[in-house]
Amino acid sequence: MAVAMLLIGCTQKKQYRIGVSQCSSDAWRTKMNEEIEREIMFHPEATVEIRSAGDDSRKQIEDIEYFRKNNFDVIIASPNEAESLTPIIKETYESGIPVILFDRNIKGDYYTAFQDADNREIGEAAARYALNYGENPKVIEIGGLEGSTPAEERKIGFQEVADEKGIDIVGYGNGNWLYDRAKSVADSLLRLNPEADVVYAHNDIMAVAASDAAKALNLHPKIIGIDAAPEIGIKAVADGKIDATFIYPTEGHRIVRTALAILKGEPYDKVVKIPMTSPVNISNADILLSQNESLREETSRMKTLKTELDNYWAAHSEQRAFLYALIAIVLLVLVVLFILLRMYWQNRRHQQVLSQQNELLREQHETEKKLNEELKQQRDTEKNLREQLSEATQSKLTFYTNVSHDLRTPLTLIAEPLNQVSNAGNLTDSQHALLKLADKNVYILRRLINQILDFRKYENDKLSVHLSEVRLAPLLREWAESFELVAHKRHTKLSVNVGIFS
Ligand code: FRU
Repeated sequence: MAVAMLLIGCTQKKQYRIGVSQCSSDAWRTKMNEEIEREIMFHPEATVEIRSAGDDSRKQIEDIEYFRKNNFDVIIASPNEAESLTPIIKETYESGIPVILFDRNIKGDYYTAFQDADNREIGEAAARYALNYGENPKVIEIGGLEGSTPAEERKIGFQEVADEKGIDIVGYGNGNWLYDRAKSVADSLLRLNPEADVVYAHNDIMAVAASDAAKALNLHPKIIGIDAAPEIGIKAVADGKIDATFIYPTEGHRIVRTALAILKGEPYDKVVKIPMTSPVNISNADILLSQNESLREETSRMKTLKTELDNYWAAHSEQRAFLYALIAIVLLVLVVLFILLRMYWQNRRHQQVLSQQNELLREQHETEKKLNEELKQQRDTEKNLREQLSEATQSKLTFYTNVSHDLRTPLTLIAEPLNQVSNAGNLTDSQHALLKLADKNVYILRRLINQILDFRKYENDKLSVHLSEVRLAPLLREWAESFELVAHKRHTKLSVNVGIFS
């Protein structure tokens, strides 16, 4: 999902937010707003929000603050009154937010760009047009809001030509750009100057108001207005309510382009003066109205197309998001599959190694078992052998003991007669020696028999050893004497030498 978000994020461009603060909401403003919205259709990278202050400077300050608080990228404004709007616009401009002013200005040049038409020139053109209604026409002038720059400039421009050409401005009053106010001002001025040839109003709304006021007074001055917005000015000319109006260009598309150029760091003109066009009167009003009608139709078709395009794009981006999500999921599944396969192979290899080790262990175990059995068999055999041996030894010993017991009796019977013969007294020396020898061997025999019997005792743990010191040399000589006779018979020399060796 992260990959999908990343892919979607990468394909999404920055969206610029443009805030438009209109001071009013009349036909001229509506025309301009439509132009702005039409232009925005061609810039999917930008959105626009338009707010109208309804001719209230305080409300307009709030609107600008709203755009600032909501981090709009650029603010476009037409300040209701120069004086009261200057601080907030200056502050906004100085805070680094691009500010584009149009139509109405402030005190000072605290803006990134400014767009308007030459209001002085419009005033001049209106004055020159008034000359169509007499050489020195008497004119009632109904001005816009005092303190709004177009009103001041339109007044100055008219005044200049009037001074030059002898136009007599018989009355002046501020209609504040509004119908009601203008109607009452026109009413008063017309009552004061019923001979007036021309009423010059700074916009068409006030011109229509003056027309209505004159009609009510049954007066018929020529009426000149400014703006030529189709729904009010041109229609009023076509309907014969007013006599002429001057196009005050709106050019909403141009201001959007300037805003985008500023945001994108592209070149733009800081001050744009839109050139003046010719007046609208009965000769061209109808054609202008029908052109406007075609434009409206085209605009409405464009809007439909745009909506369809937006829907298509929405569906497209949904599908794209879905595709990216799908790609991400497939990738994820592949990764998981790969990990699982790896785990499976590793496990298999471990199992193989384990079973090999088990086999080895089993074989070892088998061998050990066999060896143990063999060992046991060997031990059994050994035990049997030992038992047999001990049995044989026992029977041998029993045999020897029995024989020894049996030998002792005849030996005693030999020793006794030998003793008696040697004690008889009439024996030769050699007989003596022979007897002594026989006696000695009887003694040796008895001692051997005793030793066998002692061994039996030893076997039964009934023998204790008695150690005593002996003189070895006489003993050895004595033992050797026993063999002297036999040695002599066999012509063998037997001698005993006892010495101390160190
Ligand atoms: C619209 C309007 C126009 C006029 C302009 C001057 O609000 O009153 O009729 O030309 O403003 O700023």
